[in-house]
Parts: sequence; C-alpha cells; structure tokens
Amino acid sequence: MNPLLKKIKERDALPPLPEIVQRINKKMKDPECAAQDVAMLTLSDPVLVGRIIKANVSKEKSNWSFTDLKQSIASLECDEIKEMVYSKAVLNLFDNVSKFDPHNFWRHSLSVAFYSQSLANIKGLDAEDQSLAYVAGLFHDIGIMLFIYLVPGIYETLLSKIADDQTPKKERKLSIQEENAFGISHPKLGAAYIKEWWTKNTTILEAVQNHHQTSSIVSKLSTTTRIVHIANRYSNSQSIMNGIMVFKEPFKDETFEMLSLTKKQKSTFKEMASAHLTSVN
Ligand SMILES: [Fe+2]
Repeated sequence: MNPLLKKIKERDALPPLPEIVQRINKKMKDPECAAQDVAMLTLSDPVLVGRIIKANVSKEKSNWSFTDLKQSIASLECDEIKEMVYSKAVLNLFDNVSKFDPHNFWRHSLSVAFYSQSLANIKGLDAEDQSLAYVAGLFHDIGIMLFIYLVPGIYETLLSKIADDQTPKKERKLSIQEENAFGISHPKLGAAYIKEWWTKNTTILEAVQNHHQTSSIVSKLSTTTRIVHIANRYSNSQSIMNGIMVFKEPFKDETFEMLSLTKKQKSTFKEMASAHLTSVN
C-alpha cells in the first residue's frame, strides 16, 4: 500500500474531520432543515459565534446577549452559516501548517463549492444533490492540505519545481508531479481521507477523486463529478485559484457540453458566477 494512504489510515496520524462538520452535514440532509437549525448548532462553538457577530453586525455594542446573537444568526442565510462552519472546521485541522496561504486555498474551495451548487441547481437536481455538489466542491482539494500536513518539506520542493520557469511545461502539472513523487495525487489522497474519516458517500468520493481527469473521462462519470470538474475549471479561469496552480487555464465554452446545458442555462450560470466574483474580490 502507498505509504501516504497507509498513514491516513492511522488513527493518530491525522485528526478526523471535526464532529461539527458531520453534525451540520446530517442536519442539511434533513428536508425540514431550516437555517435556524443549522445556526443553533454553531452556538456550541465560540469561534464560530465570534465570526457570525463579526460578519453580520457592525453596531457599536460591547456587550452581547444571547438574544442579540440569535437575532444575528437569524438574519444569515443557510449558505452563509454553512460556509463559516466549514471554513472554520477545515482550517482548524491545519492550524500548524506554515508556508501555505489558507486564504487563497479557502477562497478557491468556497468558489468551487458555490459554482458546483449553482450548476446543480441549474440542472434541476434536488436539494440533497445540490448539497452534495456543494460539499464535494468544498473539499475537492483537501488532498493538497494533506500533503502539506504529512510531508511538508518534500511537498514544498515539489511546488518550487512547478513554479520554476525552467521546468518543462508538461511537467508543471500538480497531479503529475504528485504521482511522480509520491505515487498518488491529491484527488486520490483527498478521497481516501474523506472515505476513511468522514463519509463513504460515492457521489462525493467520485467527484473529489476525479476532479482533474480529462474531459473525455469525466464526461462518462456522474453528474456531480462533471459539475465539480467544470466548477473547478471555471474558478481557475477566473483566477480564483488554490494558490498553487501556476497556469491560468482558459475555459472553453464546449466544456459545458458535458452537462448538456442550454444556452439560457449557460448564461444563468455565468451571471451567477460573475456576481460571485464581484462579491469575493
Ligand atoms: Fe485539485
């Protein structure tokens, strides 16, 4: 077995995804789930509470009561709460990682999550499948964080090689370098980690594991996998990258064909993406 795969199976090698992610995920699957339900889960976490107050309230108030807090949460959309919960939960896993810009990484992950959910919505998927697309998009690159966590020195050398202009262009692809150096790429490592510690949901696992496959392979896989693949490429084309990629890949409109989007659906997506881009810049 690949030594890194073996490593992530060791109970003490890595922390499991925090319980709050699992609880929120379960809650989101409940058709009766309201923003309030998700919000109440966050009240158990003081850092999250602080974020919510900071994100939503700019009143000059020094003392916060529980009622103030509940009102503050009540005014947030479910997605905003989810983003805060996931971002805090995931970034907490890698608190001790230096030489890595979590901001860019997180911005990219959130954008891919947002685009994935938007595409799922445009394709008419139901609420649960939209939620799966969001989560798969959010965690698609978690394998990169695992490399940084498990083998920071070697991975940094690999990143330097990719960033070096002297390296032949075909060798500057992250997944190829990872395969060469470790015998496994971040999509596979990420999927293995999620499967080991969080969920065996095949929709999420397939999407994470195949997000860098070629279009011809991806077009034969599930709708969610195609969605996350497109969302990732679209995000990169808008320069919302994970902080590691060195090439700004052009996005060809034909890529949408693997989802059979109509002209109207494509323009709806582009409008949503453009509004999102404005909001994150
Ligand atoms: Fe990736």
